[in-house]
Amino acid sequence: MFELDKVGKIYEMRNERVEAVIDVSLKVSEGDIFGIIGFSGAGKSSLIRLMNLLDRPTSGSVRLKGRDLTDMPSAELRATRQSIAMIFQHFNLINNKTVSANVSFPLEIARFPHAEREARVRECLSIVGLLDKLHAYPATLSGGQKQRVAIARAMANRPSVLLCDEPTSALDPHSSQEILDFLLKVNRELGVTIVIVTHQMSIVNEICNKVGVMEAGRLVETFSLANRAYQPVTDIGRLLTRHRDSSFNTQVESRRAYA
Ligand SMILES: Nc1ncnc2c1ncn2[C@@H]1O[C@H](COP(=O)(O)OP(=O)(O)O)[C@@H](O)[C@H]1O
Ligand SMILES: [Mg+2]
Repeated sequence: MFELDKVGKIYEMRNERVEAVIDVSLKVSEGDIFGIIGFSGAGKSSLIRLMNLLDRPTSGSVRLKGRDLTDMPSAELRATRQSIAMIFQHFNLINNKTVSANVSFPLEIARFPHAEREARVRECLSIVGLLDKLHAYPATLSGGQKQRVAIARAMANRPSVLLCDEPTSALDPHSSQEILDFLLKVNRELGVTIVIVTHQMSIVNEICNKVGVMEAGRLVETFSLANRAYQPVTDIGRLLTRHRDSSFNTQVESRRAYA
């Protein structure tokens, strides 16, 4: 459903030129929880921002359901982008708006009528178990609760894809686990395809069915975690597959979207 073809991003500054993403091709299928893992500076955030055209690629194409986002007229691109939601490491909630107003915000932009907005806000907050926080302000919430609000907001427009940039990196282990459980729920129960950028192998092990490893702007390998015959070529790839013949695996695999 999501297809990147030889995508590149060069940041040009006054006296510097950074090739943040180099020649990345990848395919995300409907229903995937696709992890993109790599060290800091590998180009993961740059890459995920190209997937909804938050940033424009310098080269290559980004296709969603066969339609090229890079050469769509702007009205069509705006409409298409409503089916691609995103959450961030630091939540990006609007601090002077209530939880309800935060979740409602994308619906206001999309000009949903008031009654429908209210219904959707309730529906989305109940998915993440935060209906009781409708009138609270973000400052009164824990990090985990803030990210749950961000997930609710991301679900408001009923997206087909959810992009996540380090969604648990600012959270304690318990809240991280909770967020991963909600992402799994969104994937399984609402049928939302998920792309997660992370530097944490535990996230990939917990919920991803496919993974791509990024190094210095390039996607150096991609594999399905269920493919037992796959021979990894990177250190991260080897670490991600080292448990697959042990009993540890049954526990991990039972959590994965696809065994
Ligand atoms: N907006 C930007 N302008 C200039 N350089 C950038 C910008 N965003 C990212 N970079 C550079 O691109 C490279 C990859 O960064 P990033 O995509 O944030 O990596 P990661 O998310 O894997 O840590 C880094 O060298 C970073 O400094
Ligand atoms: Mg990043």
